[in-house]
Amino acid sequence: MNRTPVVAGNWKMHGSRAANASLVSGVLSGLAPRAERVAEVVLCPPFVYLAELAQRLDQTGVGLGAQDVCAEAGQGAFTGEVAAPMLREVGCTHVIIGHSERRALYAETDELVGRKTLTALAAGLTPIVCVGELLEERDAGRTHEVVGRQLEAVLRALQADPGGLAGLARCILAYEPVWAIGTGRTATPEQAQDVHAFIRGLIQSRDARIGGSVRVLYGGSVKPGNARELFGMPDVDGGLIGGASLKAEDFVAIVAATQ
Ligand code: PGA
Repeated sequence: MNRTPVVAGNWKMHGSRAANASLVSGVLSGLAPRAERVAEVVLCPPFVYLAELAQRLDQTGVGLGAQDVCAEAGQGAFTGEVAAPMLREVGCTHVIIGHSERRALYAETDELVGRKTLTALAAGLTPIVCVGELLEERDAGRTHEVVGRQLEAVLRALQADPGGLAGLARCILAYEPVWAIGTGRTATPEQAQDVHAFIRGLIQSRDARIGGSVRVLYGGSVKPGNARELFGMPDVDGGLIGGASLKAEDFVAIVAATQ
């Protein structure tokens, strides 16, 4: 199965108007021309910069992602939240859902991640749904159990929806072992492949076609020096890049490593 790789930059809570302008121009000048690009590229800045980035990325073929979305579909009394149609209106194509920092610091549950995925899909956004285990869960041999549980919650939400599992074909998944995020400690290509194959297998057991086509990204201390090895694994379809996405040169080198 030939899957188009994806490289998404998760800027987290970093940036300023000036820093973003130079980062985006560095990325755009470093990427291959649009027609020759092999990977899909997505940038995910903080909410307040989305509209400005939408203009900078217009006609460049680079996608724009938010880092979170409200689970509620429409307008309403949800102070501080941002609705999926609003993200769409300002030019977002993608949205990161269930990042481990949201789960750990803001108590997002598996069930909430499932609801957010549905809301994003309904607004025409591509969800980048994150799963991943803690170090103590890995050490206890519970990696598949934890990742399976997180994924099952998303599958359950989709199955309860009239659209059913079909929505999964419009999702991107990201395996991000929590112990590898921002720590400089990357999963080995074999560790990543093991979990990616598990994720794909779980989806294939429900729907063989979607399981074969869904992109599963790896995230957690991806750098120019380790990206090629990771992306070379059969079930690793690109990366969700944190720290290294803040340096144009590094991010562009990681995109090039998908080739
Ligand atoms: P990192 O972050 O590349 O800095 O480890 C990845 C992520 O959290 O998406």
